[in-house]
Amino acid sequence: MNYIVETKHLKKYYQMGDTTVKALDGIDFCVKDQEFIAIIGKSGSGKSTLLHMLGGLDTPTEGEVLIEGKSILKLKKEQLAIFRRRKIGFIFQNYNLVPDLNVYENVILPVELDGRKVDTEYVNGILKLLRISEKKDMLPGTLSGGQQQRVAIARALATKPAIILADEPTGNLDSATSHEVLGLLKMVAKQFCQTIILITHDRDIAQLADRIVHIEDGKIVSDTKEGM
Ligand SMILES: Nc1ncnc2c1ncn2[C@@H]1O[C@H](COP(=O)(O)OP(=O)(O)OP(=O)(O)O)[C@@H](O)[C@H]1O
Ligand SMILES: [Mg+2]
Repeated sequence: MNYIVETKHLKKYYQMGDTTVKALDGIDFCVKDQEFIAIIGKSGSGKSTLLHMLGGLDTPTEGEVLIEGKSILKLKKEQLAIFRRRKIGFIFQNYNLVPDLNVYENVILPVELDGRKVDTEYVNGILKLLRISEKKDMLPGTLSGGQQQRVAIARALATKPAIILADEPTGNLDSATSHEVLGLLKMVAKQFCQTIILITHDRDIAQLADRIVHIEDGKIVSDTKEGM
């Protein structure tokens, strides 16, 4: 079996004076291509730490992160930056949009930063699917929270990443809007054959996933298909 994402005995320890905080304490976890995984768990259980390791934003104390079968820990700084830009789409809770750029400019920014030609048909298709086409020329500050989050999703998808990593992307939205936005994310990811790993506090949203991985104290305590 080939997995798109795999971790082996992943550990992240932080030394705080005399105490060791075990943010991740031996995570063995596999994700199939085009799977939609929800990660749930209490505050401080290690969810964001795990997502950061998967996206190469941080390095583990011990263990391995394999993306498409290759260890990302062996990549040099420059290679890692390219890996992140091309393979991973990040979506964060606080949209991180550039306030002075309009919606379209925000969405294509990562493609331009990568020095690639923008596939305008593809980008326009995403904007349409996410129902923000008519907001293309507007500045982020003039949009609602749900609209801004859809722009952030469009931006994460713009580089055609194989993997979407989302950390509480709808944490600031009401429940109905969260469902709508994540339903759209799921639909778009299906259409473009992407894998989603999503952290959420919301059990209803987790039900949208193919699998729900529950983390406690840096360990996986259950991994179920209840979301199917
Ligand atoms: N840079 C750091 N230095 C020290 N401890 C850290 C650091 N980053 C995270 N931790 C600790 O690691 C543990 C896991 O943190 P993490 O951010 O992964 O939790 P989380 O599950 O994402 O929580 P939340 O739901 O609140 O976002 C926590 O106990 C946290 O205090
Ligand atoms: Mg977190």
